[in-house]
Amino acid sequence: MAFLLFSCSLRDSSRSQVMVEALRTELEGAGHEVEYLDLREAGLPLCNGDDCYDHPATKALRVSVAAADGIIFAVPVYNFYASAAAKNIVELGGSTFEGKVVGFICAAGGRNSYMSVMSLANSLMLDFRCHILPRYVYASKESFSDGKLADPEISGRISEMAHEIVRVSQALAAS
Ligand SMILES: Cc1cc2nc3c(=O)[nH]c(=O)nc-3n(C[C@H](O)[C@H](O)[C@H](O)COP(=O)(O)O)c2cc1C
Repeated sequence: MAFLLFSCSLRDSSRSQVMVEALRTELEGAGHEVEYLDLREAGLPLCNGDDCYDHPATKALRVSVAAADGIIFAVPVYNFYASAAAKNIVELGGSTFEGKVVGFICAAGGRNSYMSVMSLANSLMLDFRCHILPRYVYASKESFSDGKLADPEISGRISEMAHEIVRVSQALAAS
């Protein structure tokens, strides 16, 4: 199976990036094809609903999304929502998200923002009929020590997510 992982934080010491890299290791270790897109390096334009779609980075993004069986957004929670950089991916990718399996890994400052990805999940479901993984990963800064994940429960959830995205993507591909 082919998976596309978006690391949506633009921050140097990103906790969502640490988590999505752990997921990447699990998926690659299980023999899956993984494309990893770090938004700090992707050079994507902000969506303007117009010539942003002619930008080479947007075209490459759309090819990657179309080719993926399953997609993970690793997102920072900002203002009780996924970060604007994550939403920009959906705006640029548009209909290439049609029918994709999508999951979320969230990094937050506190424990109370766990519903923050739901608006983006709803938009992907309603606009593009995405299959949203009901199990997602949410970690606050207490789960990290010296920039590393230090919480076995979150590590376990990342492993469960690796298993779940494969299971759901394979089932849909076979149907
Ligand atoms: C502009 C801004 C808004 C934020 N809003 C929230 C929030 O609503 N809830 C929360 O728990 N943390 C919030 N945070 C904290 C971040 O979610 C936290 O620092 C997280 O680790 C960021 O992800 P990253 O480490 O992958 O960059 C906010 C941080 C910033 C900079």
